[in-house]
Amino acid sequence: MLATATARTAPETPFDRLGGHATFEAICERFYDLMDSDPAYWELRAMHAADLAPMRKSLPLFLAGWAGGPRDWFEQNLGKCMMSAHKPYVISKAVAGQWAEAMRRAVADVAPEPAELAEAMGKVLGELATGMGKD
Ligand code: HEM
Repeated sequence: MLATATARTAPETPFDRLGGHATFEAICERFYDLMDSDPAYWELRAMHAADLAPMRKSLPLFLAGWAGGPRDWFEQNLGKCMMSAHKPYVISKAVAGQWAEAMRRAVADVAPEPAELAEAMGKVLGELATGMGKD
């Protein structure tokens, strides 16, 4: 007699729990809208290309893979390390703080559920950005 395997489902990833691509796209849209419109982020904005459309596509895909979702960005950018990709830029602590704050605001404004997870994500991304800043 064959033993019946216990059905197990893979644990849901943060990507799934936050609402998938739609949520990550909405957060990044808000992030770049804030960067583009709030004078508090002019320095950060000035470092980016005039056309933010490529970043509006790239960042949500990166974050999706980072949060355990589809890894399209990582497959399209094999071997690319986020820290090394930012090496060409001189990122001051002030600019890193602008990235961190805009991202925390974007997550809070889009208010994905579960709020606890969304807040944790905003916090961790903020810390990542802060870690890229140098005096
Ligand atoms: C600390 C402050 C940061 C600054 C000043 C910064 C700046 C930049 C700039 C100037 C670009 C190129 C954009 C363009 O060509 O228009 C870029 C690309 C990118 N950044 Fe950042 N960044 C920061 C933090 C982060 C963080 C924390 C993440 C991820 C969690 C991130 C993810 C990306 C991605 C995915 C790209 C596109 C890379 C690609 O697809 O080739 N950045 N960043």
